[in-house]
Amino acid sequence: MSAVLPAQPSPSRLGTRVERQPLARYTTVGVGGEAEIWFVETLEALAEAVEQPYRILGGGSNLVIDDSGVPERVIRLSGPLAKADLTPDPELSDPASGMIVTGWVGGGTPLPGLLRKLQALGWSNLEGTVGIPGQVGGSVWMNAGTRFGEMFDGLHTIEIVTPEGVRQVTPDDLNWGYRNSDIPRGHIVSRVRLRLQQSTPEAVRERMDQADAARKGQPKMKTPGCAFKNPGGVSAGLLIDRAGLKGEQIGQARIAPEHGNFIVNLGGATAADVLGLLRLIKGRLAPELSGPLELEYEIWPEEAAADLR
Ligand code: EPU
Repeated sequence: MSAVLPAQPSPSRLGTRVERQPLARYTTVGVGGEAEIWFVETLEALAEAVEQPYRILGGGSNLVIDDSGVPERVIRLSGPLAKADLTPDPELSDPASGMIVTGWVGGGTPLPGLLRKLQALGWSNLEGTVGIPGQVGGSVWMNAGTRFGEMFDGLHTIEIVTPEGVRQVTPDDLNWGYRNSDIPRGHIVSRVRLRLQQSTPEAVRERMDQADAARKGQPKMKTPGCAFKNPGGVSAGLLIDRAGLKGEQIGQARIAPEHGNFIVNLGGATAADVLGLLRLIKGRLAPELSGPLELEYEIWPEEAAADLR
């Protein structure tokens, strides 16, 4: 006789898929304990998901999650909120000048695939962000970029969801800057409209290749990406290198020999290993700098590394 399993009561009234999973599989560095993940596909489902304490999980780059996980529900934009409608909006675009404003691009859309499509169309403005492994929402939230360009180079409208509701803003409404959108932590970039410039696939490809070339020497192992913002415009990696810290290792995490601003997972690293290395760098570098040494990574929960802020 087969056992009758109790019906699993769904914690979502709207049928959103909810699963308890290790977050390590959703972070590019591959560390992080468990949480309840909400795979949210619509704005309505998103409104439900933010009724209880939540966190938003993008592409999992620039993120270090503690080994004990997080108690809040973790929202992952999926389905239509992870797809891009690149149809030019006829009312907002201006064919005469070649200015294109797209339809809505979901915050969960992976940035690398989006950039490939824009390149094929010959639509310029975002190619400087090539190589960033994240999703659109998180990349906009932190104004991710390289020295060849950043997300705010190609935005028209940003839709933001909070427990208070949905609002749409333009870049001019925000006090954005280097690796900072001015959008408060916990506010979700649900969708954006892109503002692009008609160019040619060849010209866009050429600029992408330049930005790609600048990443050639970066480590290929699992990593959250660059650890610290460049203080005062000076490469944090260069400073870490000069301090002789490249190659330092705690547990299975190492300061990459290729570039000092990357922490890599050698296989089986824990969040404690990664945080230990961040503390080592900060402890060595910060006292010698005139300004602050700011972490580029998000740490979940924040208390796991309050000393690194
Ligand atoms: N350098 C060293 N040793 C190192 C690292 C760098 O000597 O360990 C030297 C390089 O040889 C170069 C200079 O420092 O002469 C600058 O290095 P790089 O070109 O790598 O630029 P970066 O300022 O260190 C920034 C971004 C990277 C981005 C690269 C390339 C930040 C914090 N970092 O690094 O972005 O990939 O430019 O465009 O803004 C990220 O944001 O996650 C990230 C990795």
